[in-house]
Amino acid sequence: MTIRTRLIALTVLLQLGSLVFLTGGVMLALKAYGRQQIVATEDLLRHAVARTALDALIQRDEIQLLSYLNYLKGQHPALSYALISWNMGGKTTRHTMGTPAADPEIKELRVLVADPSQPDRTVEIVFGADHRVLRIPIEESRRRLLGILVGVSVLAALAGMLAAWLFSYTLTTPLTRLANLAEVIGQGRLGARLDLDSNDEVGRLARAFNSMSERLEELEQSRRDFTSSVTHELRSPLGAIESFLQLIDAKAATGDPAALQQSRDYIKRIQTNVARLSGFINDLLDVAKIERGKMVCLPRVMDLGPTAQDVCQFFEAKSQLQGVALGNHLGALPAVMGDPDRVRQVLVNLVANALKFSKAGGRIDITAELIRDGAVRYAEITVSDDGRGMDEADRARLFRPFTQGRNVSEGVAGHQGTGLGLYIVKSIIDQHHGRIEVASAPGKGTKVLFTLPLAATQADADGAPAA
Ligand SMILES: Nc1ncnc2c1ncn2[C@@H]1O[C@H](COP(=O)(O)OP(=O)(O)OP(=O)(O)O)[C@@H](O)[C@H]1O
Ligand SMILES: [Mg+2]
Repeated sequence: MTIRTRLIALTVLLQLGSLVFLTGGVMLALKAYGRQQIVATEDLLRHAVARTALDALIQRDEIQLLSYLNYLKGQHPALSYALISWNMGGKTTRHTMGTPAADPEIKELRVLVADPSQPDRTVEIVFGADHRVLRIPIEESRRRLLGILVGVSVLAALAGMLAAWLFSYTLTTPLTRLANLAEVIGQGRLGARLDLDSNDEVGRLARAFNSMSERLEELEQSRRDFTSSVTHELRSPLGAIESFLQLIDAKAATGDPAALQQSRDYIKRIQTNVARLSGFINDLLDVAKIERGKMVCLPRVMDLGPTAQDVCQFFEAKSQLQGVALGNHLGALPAVMGDPDRVRQVLVNLVANALKFSKAGGRIDITAELIRDGAVRYAEITVSDDGRGMDEADRARLFRPFTQGRNVSEGVAGHQGTGLGLYIVKSIIDQHHGRIEVASAPGKGTKVLFTLPLAATQADADGAPAA
């Protein structure tokens, strides 16, 4: 049974149930009221008969009594009969009006009146009050009320059905749309969304659904990126290695000593490609560790200067080849708390990125200053370049794994990369309880800054610029 049918059935049942209870209550109250009315009418009759009897007795007018009782019988059909005993001091005359009957519905009432001036003169009247007749007006109002209540119940049930239908329509329509959307997503159209402008629970559900769909699309996109990155990053160096090996083989076959020198050159290129492959595999292993929460950094007291110097030396040949000036401006910095291998990895990634997007004649600088954040003091290290830079959209996606900016499509110095560098860098900095920020604009270069806490022993040194 659909929610709509169930809601309508439940509403109608609840309404009918409450109306049945209400009707039952009203009927019971009416019955009690009817009993009171019968007693009141009996009293009224008794009172009227007694007054008439007393008047007739005082005026000694037996005929007046009879004619008045006759009139009363006409006025009150409930007065079914009357037996009159007219006693004038020892002489008693009896009259009968109507026919007395042994009927349980006719209640016998008795009135005895004495003349106040001559108490031996009395009139006794025994008369019957017919309850069937007394109940007629009460039954009549009961029937009318029941009719009204039934009418109201039918109208209320119809109105309830309509309200329940409208309510269920507004509730189930978005749910049906959500179910359709889930089917569409299930069929593989990730990222499909539902536009539902409402602030209630269903609206929240729709928003949660939309963000789930977007997230699924992102995940699907990173899966695709991952597959294509892995394929590309494995295939191209392997392809290069294979071709160089074939060339070496061909040169060796000639037995020419001049070919030996060329083979050495090919071996160097093979080494470069092997280094690229192992760098990529290390990045993949790091990502796997980060995602399993197993990336562990072991910070200890370290000097940044020598590490930065080492990184600059590592890139010296490449930067010269590219015609880019690479400057390390870390002077006598206080020691920081860092895992030296991981901090080196951060600097290698940042300088590699800067080189990738720099043109001949450009420059890259590594600088640092000391800052304070609350009670903790940090070294703030900046790697800046004056290269291509990136726009706001690229900046927003930097730290996602397997995600590269659109600026790579214009070509980069060296191999394109896989979009893992900054993701790993951020995880390392997070592990050091530092922060990382990127400031960049297209054509205006890029500044990446990260912080590392100063070693406790040095924390009281004051924040003079170290660069
Ligand atoms: N110095 C920079 N100048 C311009 N864009 C940059 C710079 N550094 C990073 N980016 C942008 O950020 C993206 C992500 O950088 P990240 O280091 O994570 O990946 P990658 O360098 O493309 O690949 P990988 O580091 O895995 O070799 C880059 O693709 C590029 O679009
Ligand atoms: Mg990179």
